[in-house]
Amino acid sequence: MKLRVNKASPFARKARILIREIGLAGRLEEIETTVSPVAPNEDLARENPLIKIPALVTDNGELLYDSAVICEYLDTLHGGRKIFPAAGPLRFSALRRQALTDGMLDAAVLCRYETAVRPEALRWKDWIEGQKRKVFGGLGVLEAEVSSWSSDFDIGHIGAACALGYLDFRFADWEWRAGHPRLAAWYQGVSRRPSVSETAPS
Ligand code: BEZ
Repeated sequence: MKLRVNKASPFARKARILIREIGLAGRLEEIETTVSPVAPNEDLARENPLIKIPALVTDNGELLYDSAVICEYLDTLHGGRKIFPAAGPLRFSALRRQALTDGMLDAAVLCRYETAVRPEALRWKDWIEGQKRKVFGGLGVLEAEVSSWSSDFDIGHIGAACALGYLDFRFADWEWRAGHPRLAAWYQGVSRRPSVSETAPS
């Protein structure tokens, strides 16, 4: 299998963490791929018309995207502890948390592009504030629920680790830890997992 990744991408990091958690690293080649919203990567476009990473080519040659689909597919390929809980309430809380953290990341990545790619004269402060509001809304929900999380590291927890890691990486000045002490303590703990420390964004 071939997985297109970028070491700065929090969405690719979800798959990279999951692969390490389930012991699948030996069955996959991670291909570092450059992405830009204004300079489409034609190799990537052939595998994912949305020109986003991660993108997976399976052993059967099937093309899979986005990160949620890729992660769920990879989780079917092993017999160990599942990262996507089986049917039941745990499954839907994990999927809801994945949706929340994916949405926070969508908003944060849009802010990143707005501030790093869009010419300064065209930037729109209110729009950036609107995206930031979504990120902090999500942080508030995570802070409220983190004390009830199990020690299992499911797809929702992986998403949370990727979202917090991306905020540290690109938006350290947002100081997300202020006002979210329980989440900060949780993140400090999961950052010690080899799957998380080995995939830190760069
Ligand atoms: C970034 O550099 O922040 C980035 C790279 C790839 C995907 C998303 C974000």
